[in-house]
Amino acid sequence: MAWRSVFRVLAATLAVCCFRFAGEGRCDEARYVGNAACAGCHAAEYDAYSKHSKKAHSSRSVRLMAKSLTPEELAGCFACHATGYGRPGGFTSLSATPELADAGCEVCHGPGSVHAATGDPAAIKGKLSVADCQGCHNATRVRAFGFKPLLRAGAH
Ligand code: HEC
Ligand code: HEC
Ligand code: HEC
Ligand code: HEC
Repeated sequence: MAWRSVFRVLAATLAVCCFRFAGEGRCDEARYVGNAACAGCHAAEYDAYSKHSKKAHSSRSVRLMAKSLTPEELAGCFACHATGYGRPGGFTSLSATPELADAGCEVCHGPGSVHAATGDPAAIKGKLSVADCQGCHNATRVRAFGFKPLLRAGAH
């Protein structure tokens, strides 16, 4: 049937595309690159974040508690305390990806490889909403810590 061959051509094209760009993630998809990749063009934000944001050290508490946690529990911590855990180019482990061990620029602005390579503002999330925070600052955390962040706090 015709649709079968159309499907096969599509699948083959996708496979080639993804194979060719395997080093950069799924075709045109941006990957996580870490804060250092932002510093050269955004020195002010980088300095403010590094000096004042607790996120700049968010792996510390996880490291301290790591010994008493199961691998599953530890993976749970990384989902919020590290950058891009389980996503293309994101954090995999403290030894393999130390530059992504803290919650960096990209936890709020999204993966930045395409933007960092081009400087194109359309390739990065610039307008943020509280929904961008709630994946980590969820209801349980807000209750546990009695703290709900304001949109413009805790960044730079
Ligand atoms: C090669 C230089 C360059 C690098 C590297 C770079 N940027 Fe940018 N960025 C720009 C330019 C140019 C703009 C547009 C002008 C401006 O707003 O300063 C911009 C704008 C932005 C904006 C605002 C976008 C908007 O919609 O207004 C954000 C957020 C941002 N960058 C984050 C990042 C992050 C995070 C990284 C690291 C992953 C990064 N940038 C790396 C050059 C760069
Ligand atoms: C990937 C998960 C994640 C996302 C997304 C996230 N945060 Fe956080 N945030 C954390 C973690 C983890 C900490 C605790 C860091 C520590 O103390 O170890 C934190 C701490 C904070 C703090 C308190 C410490 C400080 O630096 O002042 C504020 C404020 C904050 N976040 C604001 C925000 C806002 C606003 C957003 C959305 C624009 C946001 N966060 C998105 C993980 C996240
Ligand atoms: C759903 C996201 C999420 C998960 C999962 C998570 N954390 Fe957090 N953690 C946060 C946020 C957000 C904060 C900041 C609390 C606040 O002030 O709102 C935080 C704060 C902390 C703090 C206090 C830091 C300080 O300096 O005050 C410690 C310690 C901590 N987390 C350890 C862990 C450990 C260990 C794990 C895994 C067992 C873990 N967290 C899992 C989001 C998370
Ligand atoms: C906790 C979330 C968070 C983190 C982490 C974060 N930002 Fe932002 N960033 C914001 C928010 C909120 C805005 C304002 C967005 C808006 O106006 O809607 C912003 C705006 C920006 C802008 C646009 C110019 C400006 O200052 O308004 C740039 C550039 C930028 N961030 C770069 C960075 C870089 C580089 C890092 C890491 C060093 C970083 N951000 C880390 C939340 C964050």
